[in-house]
Formats: sequence, structure tokens, C-alpha cells
Amino acid sequence: MAFPTSALLLLLTACSGVFAGGLEPQIPSVASFKPSNGAFELAPIVQIVVDIKYAARGTPSLLDFAGTFRDDLQAVVPYVALAPVLESPFVPDITFGIPTIYLTLDTAHEYKLFNGKPTDEGYNIQVSKSSVTITGSAPLGVWWGTRTLLQQAALQLGQGKKKVSFPAGSISDSPGWEVRGFMLDAGRHWFEASFIGDLCIYASFFKINELHLHASDNLWNPAFLYGEGNEGWKHLYAAFRFQPPPGSPIEGLVPRKNESWTKQDFAAMQTTCAKHGVTIMPEIDTPGHSLVINQWKPELMENGAPDHLNLSYPETIPTIKSIWDQFLPWFSASEVSIGADEYDASLANDYISFVNEMSSYIASKAGKSIRIWGTNEPSKTMSVSKDITIQHWDFPGDDIPVQLLKKGYRVINSEQFFLYLDGKTSEDNQFPQELNQDLIWAGAPGGKGWAPNIFSPTDPTNNTTPDDPNLRGSIFALWNDWGNNATTALEIYYQLARSIAVFGEKAWAGSDVRQTQLTRAQFDAAYPLLNAAAPGQNLNRVVKSVHGNIVLDLPGAYTSLKTLIPSVGPPYTLSFSVKPDSKAASTGLLFSGADSKLHVANLTFEATGQLYALGYVLPTNKFTSVSVHATREYTYAIINGDKANPHYWYTLMDIWGDYMALGNMSFAAPTAQIGGDGFRGTIKDIKLTLGG
Ligand SMILES: *[C@@H]1O[C@H](CO)[C@@H](O)[C@H](O)[C@H]1NC(C)=O
Ligand SMILES: *[C@@H]1O[C@H](CO)[C@@H](O)[C@H](O)[C@H]1NC(C)=O
Ligand SMILES: *[C@@H]1O[C@H](CO)[C@@H](O)[C@H](O)[C@H]1NC(C)=O
Ligand SMILES: *[C@@H]1O[C@H](CO)[C@@H](O)[C@H](O)[C@H]1NC(C)=O
Ligand SMILES: *[C@@H]1O[C@H](CO)[C@@H](O)[C@H](O)[C@H]1NC(C)=O
Ligand SMILES: *[C@@H]1O[C@H](CO)[C@@H](O)[C@H](O)[C@H]1NC(C)=O
Repeated sequence: MAFPTSALLLLLTACSGVFAGGLEPQIPSVASFKPSNGAFELAPIVQIVVDIKYAARGTPSLLDFAGTFRDDLQAVVPYVALAPVLESPFVPDITFGIPTIYLTLDTAHEYKLFNGKPTDEGYNIQVSKSSVTITGSAPLGVWWGTRTLLQQAALQLGQGKKKVSFPAGSISDSPGWEVRGFMLDAGRHWFEASFIGDLCIYASFFKINELHLHASDNLWNPAFLYGEGNEGWKHLYAAFRFQPPPGSPIEGLVPRKNESWTKQDFAAMQTTCAKHGVTIMPEIDTPGHSLVINQWKPELMENGAPDHLNLSYPETIPTIKSIWDQFLPWFSASEVSIGADEYDASLANDYISFVNEMSSYIASKAGKSIRIWGTNEPSKTMSVSKDITIQHWDFPGDDIPVQLLKKGYRVINSEQFFLYLDGKTSEDNQFPQELNQDLIWAGAPGGKGWAPNIFSPTDPTNNTTPDDPNLRGSIFALWNDWGNNATTALEIYYQLARSIAVFGEKAWAGSDVRQTQLTRAQFDAAYPLLNAAAPGQNLNRVVKSVHGNIVLDLPGAYTSLKTLIPSVGPPYTLSFSVKPDSKAASTGLLFSGADSKLHVANLTFEATGQLYALGYVLPTNKFTSVSVHATREYTYAIINGDKANPHYWYTLMDIWGDYMALGNMSFAAPTAQIGGDGFRGTIKDIKLTLGG
């Protein structure tokens, strides 16, 4: 070979801006594309057609997926006018001469994961001048194919093209791994069902197929939990998010009903996720992290450890079973997680017999298998059943993934070094704000990219190959160790947004398996366009039809006014002048919106029930001018033009009882209503502009 390797690499990089034939590099990368001549011009009139033979196949059905695709295509490509989806045995191109996107199945075609096991998530896209045909072996594969088309359209429009055209040729694509998920700690932080549904919709754009919902937990503070003669554990924040129906024998498990999902809330969230190809993997964490259960039934507690269950107390396991009895019928996933992390290593046999018993119980009750977190539970006489999938997160202890894989355990990679995030901050900045790009692109041994088969950054003997038969895939995790008031829900989205995309690439395509995998530069170029175009949700809280950068401009004086804008995402500047009427007027709202409120008292921001006072008391006899500046990192106010003294809205986080940490807060602008809730006084010169 005449070329030195580095020159060859340069050459490859130089021509990898676009695929041969004009396919844009997208997230995740597609496995292969063979160009042919011409292109499918996406005309203003396009017909989506579902093969009638398979329209009703699956849950959601191919027809359901087609309907969602139609709405998404309309959102991503505003110039198209789409008729309702048609069911037909023919490609209408032949029949009516309308450019057609045809969705069908080839159930005989077998797509394979990197380990050779079959997957129903693969698809082919055949593009000719007059039609696009997406064929999967199952509806889910077709669904991912529709994401591929939408991303191509979004990238072209994002680059300034006026018309979308798909290059003719043939795409063939399928994921390398079965499990490609992210975990949300909804135990220590409350999230509305609609927010979680939006996260699923967003993640599905990047072909993520699981949301692992950690739905019970407690804050961890040793002084509260283990203090001598201390009853602090009774008051430490603990939560269980599935709300039992009224009158249920386990009703007492959820005292804080305003922070739990009813059966209907959960079903709606689960359906939204499923409609987008995302399975909710629910987790109820026991026998550690169980303070919420012990606050309800203190007799189940392990002596001296209020967050641990005493597994040898006769009522404990029947109680845990009764909790699962209540909620198993809610869950559509074929698996559930029982958590089972961080329990006493000295009670290994109790632990192992508990997880094995729960595995058999849940299998017999609901036909579902279970997952547990890797945990150090050394026993000479017992072992965890091989029916149970182990989600590795921490070296060393019993949780050494290559050894588990060799013994025949199925493993999911959630190694914290690469894959953990913590809301707002972490102890001693152990974890980054979003998945660390340096680690993901070059943090594996030898400077290679991370992939689900990589557990250690330094030691190749701790890593396995992409085709390991027992490696199921990977889940990255966002924890909320500092509870409800550390972050708003949208701040959690800001941490997840890019993380989901980069993880989507690696969990689908791996590193150094396919020639077509993305480079970091390609990812960086595509991501902002795709984030902005991701359809079906508006987590960025973008306001359409803004004139210039002015969202609101209301020069008059108001006591109360409603607008048509529910909320505006940062960066923005909201300025106004306010004169509260009298001392009595220290209640009420200056502004309220879908994500936040601004109270007149102390200029307090409110988000998901949490209050963040600025500590500035407005005088009642004169106007004060306030301008609120927000980015995704912080929110501050300038009062009466005094730019030298910005006032920041903060939260105070108790870092595991070790120290208190001050953190900035980012709030969306509350724009739905001006005044209200008892506010008396005048607000004038209201202006909201984009840019912090
Ligand atoms: C667990 O419960 C058993 C049975 O009631 C009791 O004998 C034992 O002391 C308890 N252990 C702990 C650690 O609380
Ligand atoms: C890798 O595995 C060995 C045991 O097989 C262990 O001692 C070592 O600490 C591991 N950790 C990492 C991060 O590679
Ligand atoms: C739920 O109610 C409690 C008690 O009134 C309150 O402290 C909390 O902020 C509320 N949570 C939400 C999300 O509104
Ligand atoms: C205003 O906020 C400060 C700081 O959080 C607090 O100390 C004070 O009690 C609050 N005052 C009122 C009137 O709410
Ligand atoms: C948030 O919660 C912590 C305790 O977890 C508390 O110390 C703090 O005062 C709370 N409020 C704010 C606005 O930080
Ligand atoms: C809040 O953000 C400002 C602006 O970036 C920064 O200067 C300040 O250090 C931050 N404060 C905290 C507590 O993080």
C-alpha cells in the first residue's frame, strides 16, 4: 500500500461530508447506501400509502406508524400538503401518477444484530424518481426508516435548500444492538407524564428504543438515614410514582398524590412512547433504595438502615409482591426492572434468593422477565438466575461485565464512567453535564470510540466485542440525586438533548464496525439541525412566527392579560416595569406560563411546584424596571438598569449531607398570562426578545 495510513484517513475524512450519491450524514448513521441515477423530488403533493396486506400488523400497527409519520413529515417539511394515509395493494405511482411514499413489510427478510441474532428493527429504503418504498421485516423497522427519511429532509432544509430531494438508490439499515435506551431518575425528581412522553418522541428521532423509568427512590443523606436515635428518615424525601387506585390496600405507599401518575396518566405516556417506537421499561427499586416503602410500613425496615428492606421479615416479600401485583397490569413492556442495587453485601444469600424469587414470580404472574442492576453480592452457595438481565454500572465487586457475559448472563452496559449524568451537578463534578463527547468519540482503549461493548476506558480485557452473544446493548442514565428543586424538567431535557443524539449513533452503529459510522465532525454538523427539526414535541419551547427577535412588545399598562404564547425557551430577555399597589399586593403573579411562574413576592420563580426566591422585594410606591435574562445555564435579573449587580436565581443542593452547593437555575419565560392570582398593581412596557 503506497499511502501511509494517516494520508488514507485524511482522504476518507475529506470525502465523507456526504455519502457518494448525496445522502446527508445523519444520526444515527445508516449502515449502507447504494446510489443509482436521479432523485425523488419531494413535491408539494405527496401520497403516503400503506400496503393494505400489512396495515393492521403489530401494536402499534403499520398504519398507526404511518399516521404519525404523516404528521411528522408535515411538521418537518412545511411546504408539503399531505392527504390522509391511503391503504392500497399497489404503489399508486403506477395507478394515479402521484409521487408516493409506500410503507410495506417483507416478513421473510431477516435483519441481524451485530451478534447475529435476528432483529425486527431493520429496514430498506428504495428510492426511485417517482416513489420511495420503505420495507421492514416488522412495523418497527419501517418506523425507523421513516425517521431516516425525515432526518434527510430536515438536514437539507436546515442547510438552506428550498426543496427536499432524496437521492435515488437503496438504503439498508439495522441496529447493532437490541437495547438502546436512556434512564430517567423519576424517583427523586417529579416529572409530568406529558414531559416524559415528549422525551420519548424526541429520543425516537435518533432511533432510541427504550426509556428506562426509575420510578421509586429517595434522597440519600446519612445524617437523616442513619443518625443515632434520629427520626429524620421519616421526613427525608422519598417517592413512588405509580398511584394506586383509591381504596387499594397499598394506597399508603403514595402519600404525595400530586407527584404521581394515575393509571390513565401512565397509560397515555406509555402509548405516546410506543407510538414512537419507544418502550417504557419501568423500575420499582427494592430491596435497597426503599425508604418510601419503609416510611409506609416501618416494620419492613432493616434495623439501622431505613432505606433497606429486611428481607427475612416475613411480611416483606409478600408486600413487594403485592406492589407488583397492582402495577404489572399497567406495563406493556415484556420486561421490568426490580432495581436491586446497593444492598448489603453481607446479606448476599437473602438478596440472591429475593431476586430469584421475584424473577419467577413476575414470570408466572405476567409472563415478563426482569432486570437488575449489577450489585456486589458475594455468595459461595447461591447465584442469580441466568433468566435475569444484569445492567452493569460499577466496577468492581461482583459486577465485572466480561465475567458475567462469560458465565452466560445477558448484560446491558450502563457503565457510569461513560454513561452517567446527574441533574445540575454531581458530587465533586464526578459526572459531566451531558455525555462527554471526548469520551464517546475517543475514550475507549487506543483512543477509539465508545460503543456498548466498551466498559473500561483503559483496560481492553474488561471490554468485549460488538458481536458478543450475551451483550444486549446499552442504557445511559440521568440521576436526580439532589431532588425536585435542583432542576426544572426542561433543564433535564437540556442535559439529555445532545446526549440522546450521540448515544443514538453509538448504540445503533457502534464504533469501528461499519465504514459508514459518523465522524465527530459530521455529528457536530448534523446535530443542531436535527435537534431543531425533531418533530412531535417542542421541548426547545420555540415560538413560531416571531417578527425579528421580538416575541412580545406590549408598551401599555396592564393588571391582567392573556396571550397565545404558553412558554418561551431560553435564551430570552423579558423586560417590564412594575408597581405593586400596596403591601397587601405582595401576593399574586406577574407572569405565568406552561413551564414557570413569576410571583411578585420576592420576585420568586416557580417551576413544577418548587419556589426560587430572588430575595428582591419590590417597592409599592413606584415603578421598578426589571429585565430577566435567561440562558439554558442561568437566569438573572437587572433591576433599574444596574448592570453591575445582576441578581441570579439560585437553588441550594444538599450534596449527600457532605456540603451545600449553590446552582444556577434556567427558567423558560412565563408568557401565557400577565398578572393574575390576586396580583394588584400595574405592569407596563413588557417586551420579550430572543437572546439572553
Ligand atoms: C429482620 O427481621 C427478622 C425477623 O423479624 C429479625 O429477626 C431480624 O433481626 C431483622 N434483621 C434486621 C437486620 O433488621
Ligand atoms: C477490569 O477488571 C479487573 C478484574 O478483571 C479489575 O481488577 C479492574 O479494576 C477492572 N476495571 C477497569 C475500569 O478496567
Ligand atoms: C405537591 O404538594 C406538596 C405539598 O403541598 C408541595 O410541597 C409540592 O411542591 C407539590 N408538588 C408539585 C409538583 O406541585
Ligand atoms: C425573600 O427571599 C429571601 C431569600 O430566599 C428570604 O430570606 C426572605 O424571607 C424572603 N422574603 C419574603 C417576604 O418572602
Ligand atoms: C431545595 O431543597 C434543599 C433540600 O434538599 C433545601 O436546602 C433548599 O433550601 C431548597 N430550596 C431552594 C430554593 O434551594
Ligand atoms: C451562575 O452563572 C454565572 C454566569 O455564568 C456564573 O458567573 C456563576 O458562577 C454561576 N453561579 C453558580 C453558583 O454556579
